[in-house]
Amino acid sequence: MIKPFKFASIPRIIFGAGKLTELYEIIPEFGNNVLFVIGGRSLKKSGKWNEIVENMNKRNYNFSQISIREEPSPSRIDEIAAEYRTKDLDIIIGIGGGSVTDAGKAISAMIPHQDSITNYLEGVGTNKPDGKKIPFIALPTTSGTGSEATKNAVVSKVGEDGFKKSLRHDNYIPNIAIIDPELILSCPPPITAACGMDAFTQLLEAYVSTKASPMTDSLAYNGLRYMKDNIIPACTTGSEEIEVRTAMAYGSLMSGICLANAGLGIVHGLASPIGGFFEIPHGVVCGTLLAEATKLNIDKLKEKGLEGRPALKKHAEVGALIAGKESFKKGKMYKYLDILVKTLEKWTENLEIDKLGEYGISEEDFDKIIQKSGLKNNPVKLSKDDIHQILKNRL
Ligand SMILES: [Fe+2]
Repeated sequence: MIKPFKFASIPRIIFGAGKLTELYEIIPEFGNNVLFVIGGRSLKKSGKWNEIVENMNKRNYNFSQISIREEPSPSRIDEIAAEYRTKDLDIIIGIGGGSVTDAGKAISAMIPHQDSITNYLEGVGTNKPDGKKIPFIALPTTSGTGSEATKNAVVSKVGEDGFKKSLRHDNYIPNIAIIDPELILSCPPPITAACGMDAFTQLLEAYVSTKASPMTDSLAYNGLRYMKDNIIPACTTGSEEIEVRTAMAYGSLMSGICLANAGLGIVHGLASPIGGFFEIPHGVVCGTLLAEATKLNIDKLKEKGLEGRPALKKHAEVGALIAGKESFKKGKMYKYLDILVKTLEKWTENLEIDKLGEYGISEEDFDKIIQKSGLKNNPVKLSKDDIHQILKNRL
C-alpha cells in the first residue's frame, strides 16, 4: 500500500548538451538586469565564460558578476546582498558547483530583506524565511549536490563554533535549471569524484529513506541506473565523453529532486557537523563515509529480522542494479547486499577519496561531531557507538 507523501515542485528543467544557448532567450522573460554568480577559474579556463560574455554583450543585456570560490559563509552572503540591494536586479544566474548555486539562491533570497541571513538559517536564527526572492536560474558545472533542484541553500561558518545550515523555503527552488553537460566537461577528476560520490550517496540515501515514496523511488532508481556505470569513467577515461558527463549530470539532478522529497540518512546527518567544524569538501565527507555507513546500516537491518527486511531488500535492489540485474530471487538478497558494499568500497578506493584524518580530524573530535549529527531519515536507528565506528573506520 502506498503511504501518504508530499512532493515539492521542481524547477523548469532544460537538460542536454549545448542547452546553455537557451539562457539568452530566457533572460528577457525576467528583465535585462542580470547578476551572474560564478565560481573560480574553471569556467574561465574552459572558454565558456568568454562565450557567455560575448552573447550577453551582443544582446545588450546589463550584467555584472561576482565570484564564489568556497562554500558561502553568512558574512559573505550579507555583504553581497547589501551591495546589490539597490541595484534593481531582474534575475540572478548561478553558474558553478554546489557552493555557487547555494550562494546564488541565498543572495536571491536575502536581497529583498534588510537583515542578516543568520536570522533565517535553520537551527541558528529565529525568523522564518518568507520565500520572497529575486528569480534565480541555476546552471551546474559539477555533477554532485543536486542543488539545482532543491529548495535549500547551505551556508557554512567554519571553526570551533562553526555550523553548516540551510536557508530553506519552497520558493527557493530555482525558477529554472539549465543542465548542460558541456559545462561539466572541464570539471577536474578529484572534484568529479567527490561530487559523483555525493550524488550517489543522495540517491542511495533517498532510495532507502524512511520518507521515500514510490515517486521518489522511481526517480532515485533511475538516477542510480545512469550513475553506476559512469562514475568511474567520468573521473578517468571517459571524462571528456559527453555521454558519460550527461549520465552523471542526470543522476545528480535526480539526486537533488529525491533528497528534497525523500530526505537523507546518516551520511548527510554527519556531513553537516563535519563540514561546520572542518574545512572539508561536502563531497569528500559523503564519499569517504558512504561505504562504511551502508555496511553498518545493512548489518543493523539484518539484526532486526523481519522488521528490517523491506529496507534490506531496497539495498539489495541497488546491489542487483549495479550487477546488471533489475530483479532477483528471494534467496539472492544477501549476495546483492554484498555486491553493493563491495562496490562502494572499491569506488572509494579507486577514486582515492580522502580519509577524514587528512583534514585534521582526530578521534577526540568524534564526540562533538556525533553530538551535532542527526540520523535524518536513516532506514535504521544507530547508536553513538555505531556512528563512532563509522567515523573511526575512515579516520
Ligand atoms: Fe550531499
